[in-house]
Amino acid sequence: MSTVLYITSNPKSEKDSYSLKVGREFLNAYKIKNPGDNIFEIDTFKAGVPLIDKDVLKGWSRMASGTSFGVLTTDEQQKIKKIDKFTDQFIAADKYIFVTPMWNFTVPAMMKAYIDTICIVNRTFKYTQNGAEGLLKGKKAVHIQASGGVYSEGPAKDFEMGNRYIKSICMFLGITFDGSIFIEGIQADPNKANEILQGATDLAVKTAETF
Ligand SMILES: Cc1cc2nc3c(=O)[nH]c(=O)nc-3n(C[C@H](O)[C@H](O)[C@H](O)COP(=O)(O)O)c2cc1C
Repeated sequence: MSTVLYITSNPKSEKDSYSLKVGREFLNAYKIKNPGDNIFEIDTFKAGVPLIDKDVLKGWSRMASGTSFGVLTTDEQQKIKKIDKFTDQFIAADKYIFVTPMWNFTVPAMMKAYIDTICIVNRTFKYTQNGAEGLLKGKKAVHIQASGGVYSEGPAKDFEMGNRYIKSICMFLGITFDGSIFIEGIQADPNKANEILQGATDLAVKTAETF
């Protein structure tokens, strides 16, 4: 039995979002194959993801110099506690499904804020003499991304930073990146909307069956 995090970052409702639609199809297919798994959904727009601000940096720095958590200011404690909760939840999971729209070539800011809560030194990665090493080996992830244009091939390929970012973070943390599902080009060619959506849905269902 695995613990799965379904991590989304979109203020739209599912019916208005291509990535959320395909993400849901993935999750439904996954659940049919793995009925006993524990699945937790994190909507990064609603989950109260904290930003790394002055209090967080100050609190972390004080703890690194030996100050105990209980002596930190209330703001420092509260914000660090919130971050720790997301880190703990991420470490406790086995599989991750990231679902994002492309916004200005990358993921929405709330996904970036979430990622900042899971890249924590000595918890999800550590520094060694040979450089950084991910501590989440044996876990795996997929990324589902919708974009108006096409980035998996063609002239805009180098502009793509959302999928490359999620993939890089997974690799950095030692997580096996199991693949990407793109719903791309619907705004560039609206006549192909149904075809693009169906192709991505088929791939999502197929990928979910072995994830
Ligand atoms: C703020 C914003 C920025 C966007 N930036 C890009 C972009 O850089 N490249 C692109 O191809 N589409 C861009 N789009 C279009 C979305 O990627 C596209 O509508 C996609 O379907 C969104 O995913 P969703 O349907 O799951 O919400 C942007 C849309 C918004 C609202």
